[in-house]
Amino acid sequence: MISSYIKENNFKAEKGEAKSIFANKNVKNVVLVGLGEEEKYGFDILSNTIADVAKRLRDNSTESFSIFLESFNNGNFKDEELAEKIALSMLIGLYKFSDYKTKDKDKIKYVKQITIITSSSKDFQNEIVYASVVADAVSKTRDLVNIPPNVATPEYVAYYAKELSKKPGLKFNVFDDKQIEKMKMGCLSAVGKGSASKPRLVVIEYNGAAKSKKKVALVGKGVTFDTGGYNLKPYPYILNMKDDLGGAAASLHVIEACAKLKLPVNLIVVAPLAENMIDGSAYRPDDVLTAFNGVTVEIKNTDAEGRLIMADALSYAASLKPAAIIDVASLTGASTVVLGSVGTPFLSTDNELRERIRNASEKSLEKMWELPLWQEYEDYIKSDVADIKNIADEPEAGVIIGAVFLKHFVEELPWLHIDIGTTVWSKADKGILTKGGTGATVRLMMEMLRDWK
Ligand code: BES
Ligand code: MN
Ligand code: ZN
Repeated sequence: MISSYIKENNFKAEKGEAKSIFANKNVKNVVLVGLGEEEKYGFDILSNTIADVAKRLRDNSTESFSIFLESFNNGNFKDEELAEKIALSMLIGLYKFSDYKTKDKDKIKYVKQITIITSSSKDFQNEIVYASVVADAVSKTRDLVNIPPNVATPEYVAYYAKELSKKPGLKFNVFDDKQIEKMKMGCLSAVGKGSASKPRLVVIEYNGAAKSKKKVALVGKGVTFDTGGYNLKPYPYILNMKDDLGGAAASLHVIEACAKLKLPVNLIVVAPLAENMIDGSAYRPDDVLTAFNGVTVEIKNTDAEGRLIMADALSYAASLKPAAIIDVASLTGASTVVLGSVGTPFLSTDNELRERIRNASEKSLEKMWELPLWQEYEDYIKSDVADIKNIADEPEAGVIIGAVFLKHFVEELPWLHIDIGTTVWSKADKGILTKGGTGATVRLMMEMLRDWK
């Protein structure tokens, strides 16, 4: 039936082409999905095509469907990897955020069941569990980014993190604004000053490996809303600035997922939370702040607040002497100039971390590209009055300058910085993405930690 349909209806199997055939009253519809040229067909095309088809089926009110696993295998994939990628892309592709809709809730369409049909004797149990835990982490990261900023304040996110840490294997700690000040985290303290919701520093630990094994530290930027402060962002640049906690949101859900999967790794998450607002006690340009590690910072622009809260969080993480520090931050708008919304720039001081992120990038399908940390960039942030200043005089090499600033707070430890300024947010429903928060770096980090040795 299918082959005669293909002949008669000129189905070309072009990438993204989908045709629905009425089969019989039991099966109803068979959907043929085009995957394009066989040589170009890899996991990337597979994931996005399959997510697009899932979206289309859902929007046509299909509540359940099955997938023939082998029909998506051109011989280049292992069936278990294929099952994992299919499950993960469908689950995150079907993500929707409708918590704040009150009208016609019953008209919102959902897929309730997806069946994977295979002739293989394997059950893919591990892969399906991995896919659903990671998909859950991606979805909850997207939620936290999408929740409006009047709700997702620093206090709310800290409370959310505390609840999340009640899972077995997780240990939670939080520092409030008074403790942050007492610990001499002058940067996080200053950035949070202008908001009625006071800053927090969340610390979560997960020990899945032997006690003797050094921890991996994961530090995520959690600015719950970035007005720019006294260097106020003009319209429309101030829109969507609730997405500025994407790094923190990702790191919280990564550690939760590691605990759920019982991955054999020791991990510590440090998430600085603050809202960058304006009022009489807000910080200002020309201020000089002292970070947790004693480095003094001259403020030239209150909109470069992310690197300030990260400065304290990174130097706190470094004081725990971890094996490596990985930070995820929506640090710069300049990241758009570098790679557009296709990929995410990263910078590192360590060859082993470079290798790890490249491998994880390939496996997770999150496109990452390295930028250099050449010593010449150091001069850009020399200050007349303090050790360093928080922006350069000229708006050039923005992503690199952000990283060069952060490097002053990682104390020579192996370090990897990921700037999700652009990729934290999607402007469209496309493939595995849904308009809004993307959950950037969750799949990547999970691949990095999956077999961390
Ligand atoms: N959160 C922003 C980065 C950002 C801006 C992400 C626009 C996505 C879209 C960050 O705090 C910021 O404002 N960075 C400034 C830095 C500048 C003042 C050196 C920027 O990129 O404009
Ligand atoms: Mn800013
Ligand atoms: Zn910001």
